[in-house]
Amino acid sequence: KPHIVTFTPNLSTCHKSFAKPGFQVYCCPPKPESEESFIDFKIPDLSSPRRIRRRAHLADKDYIAKYNKALTIMKSLPYEDPRSFRRQADMHCIYCTGAYNQQYSNASFSIHRQWLFFPWHRMMIYFHERILGSLIGDDTFALPFWQWDAPEGMVTPAMYMDGAFTDTEREETHVHIPRIADINYDYNDTEIEPEQRIKKNLAFMYHQMVSGAKKVELFMGCQSKPGKDGVCDGPGTIELAPHNALHTWVGKALNRYRENMGVFYAAARDPIFYAHHSNIDRMWEYWKELRGYEPEIVDPVWLNSHFFFHNENSQLVRVRIGDILNITKLGYGYEKVDYPWLNARP
Ligand code: C2O
Repeated sequence: KPHIVTFTPNLSTCHKSFAKPGFQVYCCPPKPESEESFIDFKIPDLSSPRRIRRRAHLADKDYIAKYNKALTIMKSLPYEDPRSFRRQADMHCIYCTGAYNQQYSNASFSIHRQWLFFPWHRMMIYFHERILGSLIGDDTFALPFWQWDAPEGMVTPAMYMDGAFTDTEREETHVHIPRIADINYDYNDTEIEPEQRIKKNLAFMYHQMVSGAKKVELFMGCQSKPGKDGVCDGPGTIELAPHNALHTWVGKALNRYRENMGVFYAAARDPIFYAHHSNIDRMWEYWKELRGYEPEIVDPVWLNSHFFFHNENSQLVRVRIGDILNITKLGYGYEKVDYPWLNARP
């Protein structure tokens, strides 16, 4: 046992898990990851190109064609291939339903509603992006972001209505243009004028990013600790909404658990998941910028916690949270855009 116990999944424990009380799922890989050797994550070589993530609603034809091609290849890979789309989606299922146990305890390893939320999702889409790029031989390929925090981005981005980006399990009464999303959706459709909805959304963003997120814990989520008694349940402002809210809003209301997007075990089967999380990640980065890049958390438990992902060469990689807190060093960034909610103090 190491000196400080941190969060690390025990890869040999992948098991059936509960996606919802009374509803079991199995999303473990075909060949146990514990039989693979892993490498430790290394910051990419800085001479390698920088990937710039841009607004999904402004994506042009060439970009969409390129991404569509990469995604089509990814979807055609066999399940045995850890780079395949379904395996990527199941990775989210594994970590969100607690299919692994933690190392040094039988407590399950889970990443939502607490401080593991931002770093885990950052790295999930990070590897997803690199795999997509490598499938088309483009090492500048970057995911788009769904800019739901600005009026022009508050509808479902048009690119998700076509080709490999479609998903049959979406709520059609929501996901059609020009329907403005309720970014604080809570299962009730309230009819208000689009201009009013936009105003409410902007004021809500101001609360989630500024006035309601002054304390680190409020934004990053509660500080769960390893082991059975360490579980906490306190999602950060952005995780709760727009994050959870838009998952629910996109998922099909007629499905039992609003699959796909509306329930975590299935959410990453919808390609829009990755653009949604790209914007979530951008919000984390911008919140840091607003507070002058002061380190958000210095607790060694958090900094030394680990996740495992497969990279574009199908190698299993162990990632330490403390190594992924600087996106410039990770080799990607976001196009500079305005934050229209900054002045939307209610
Ligand atoms: Cu792990 Cu958007 O959820």
